[in-house]
Amino acid sequence: METVVRFQNFAKSFGTKTVHEDVSFDVYRGECLGLLGGSGAGKSVLLRTLVGLEKPDRGQIWVEGEEISKMSERQLINIRKKVAYVFQNGALFDSMSVYDNLAYALREHTKLAEDQIHDRVINRLAEFGLAGNERLFPSNLSGGMQKRVGLARSIILEPSVVLYDEPTAGLDPYNTKRICDMMLRLKQKGATAIFVTHDMPAAFSVCDRIAVLKHGRIHAIGTRDEIEQQDRWVARFIQGEEI
Ligand SMILES: Nc1ncnc2c1ncn2[C@@H]1O[C@H](COP(=O)(O)OP(=O)(O)OP(=O)(O)O)[C@@H](O)[C@H]1O
Ligand SMILES: [Mg+2]
Repeated sequence: METVVRFQNFAKSFGTKTVHEDVSFDVYRGECLGLLGGSGAGKSVLLRTLVGLEKPDRGQIWVEGEEISKMSERQLINIRKKVAYVFQNGALFDSMSVYDNLAYALREHTKLAEDQIHDRVINRLAEFGLAGNERLFPSNLSGGMQKRVGLARSIILEPSVVLYDEPTAGLDPYNTKRICDMMLRLKQKGATAIFVTHDMPAAFSVCDRIAVLKHGRIHAIGTRDEIEQQDRWVARFIQGEEI
């Protein structure tokens, strides 16, 4: 199996608070790895580190065969084209229409002509159930639509790695299913993903393997059955007991 993302002995503290003691795991080509853990366990910080928004105190981080932790901002631009970070709130540009939100990265980072950009944006919107909404502004959209626009925008450059930070938080079951279906479609196209969530059914429907972060380490990793067998604490955590 080909490793696409690797955390190796990653450590990170903020002031006197140690969040990650020693985190090591691999994500393989084409898989979706679920990342679970209590609130404050450090899941979002891990994702932010993968796109160079945080620097490790110790350890190495590999993306598509390149070690990124000491890269300059300039070098990170290329990594950020390959790795899409789907922010929890969508992080849309409020002053731009839905169309321009999607077109923005294509205009900035590709040499596509405006009519090619148009085709790409319109196709993506249709694929995400958003056809006909291109002239609307983010403030005119429901929460579920904003999340879908955010997801569509994050993957417009066809990244090889997608990082989802709680993409279904706050959504109704119908919109949760739509997001999960989109994640599965991206997986079928070959994307490698990390899916941070507190939504166990969503994690089990989309992920091949699950990693559990606890006390600054990967406490368990494997298929659902494997991690439930590894530790009674994990089984209880997954079943929603207070831990
Ligand atoms: N820039 C920062 N400065 C100081 N502390 C930070 C910073 N970023 C994160 N932290 C701290 O690191 C810890 C982990 O934060 P993180 O956002 O990764 O948690 P999480 O696992 O994503 O939690 P949740 O499930 O609630 O989103 C928290 O205690 C948080 O306060
Ligand atoms: Mg978080």
